Amino acid sequence: FDHNLLSGCHVVITAGPTREAIDPVRYITNQSSGKMGYAVAEAAAEAGARVTLISGPVNLPTPTRVHRIDVVRADEMYDASMAVVGEGCDVFIATAAVADYRPTITSDHKIKKSTEEIHLTLVKNPDIVAAVAAHARRPFTVGFAAETHDVITYAQRKLENKHLDMIATNDVSGENVGFNSDNNALTVIWPGGHKVLPLAAKRQIAKQLIELIAIRYKR
Ligand code: PMT
Repeated sequence: FDHNLLSGCHVVITAGPTREAIDPVRYITNQSSGKMGYAVAEAAAEAGARVTLISGPVNLPTPTRVHRIDVVRADEMYDASMAVVGEGCDVFIATAAVADYRPTITSDHKIKKSTEEIHLTLVKNPDIVAAVAAHARRPFTVGFAAETHDVITYAQRKLENKHLDMIATNDVSGENVGFNSDNNALTVIWPGGHKVLPLAAKRQIAKQLIELIAIRYKR
């Protein structure tokens, strides 16, 4: 692993889940542990990059030489990402499992148990990685895709629709990969090529991903 691979580069990474409040004690979230994103941050720092990690709520230590910004909600992750990209960065890697929807209304008091059925209305959150790819100071933009079926087809569609430079896709239907696991397997796709990174520890996969990103970014 080349420790000067990304020297002089500012790499920004989103990681973990987001939490969308229903009321002061309840929220909507997902199974992301942050392990994949933190491994990518560590690998980028080991490759000599200056690293900013924008993190949802997780229980992980901050990797060495990584600047961490903590957020909770998707709109906070969006604002933090736009602020950092606006100042200028070279590579943006979106590993976060951002909640696609949030409750339309967040109650400011604990919702009381009452009728047999209650309804929760949700509204779409802004798409962070798509906004980064559309930014005037667009960095080399890498997305992730978590799919349970037709993995490559959906990932290819996200690469095109979000105008990304690269997408790393994982099948999250299995037990030993994706959300929360210490291991992962990725198919990395870019316009005109792809590479399969077979099952390995997330830290190992992260290094391989950083190598692929460095090659494509330098072109
Ligand atoms: O955190 P771990 O437990 O280690 O698990 C790792 C992981 C499974 C979360 C990770 O490998 C992964 O796949 N991350 C992406 C999860 C996801 O939400 O994918 P998606 O297909 O819904 O989103 C596609 C891309 O758009 C992602 O890069 C996502 O960060 C981004 N996105 C999505 C919605 C949104 N509002 N803003 C975004 O930026």
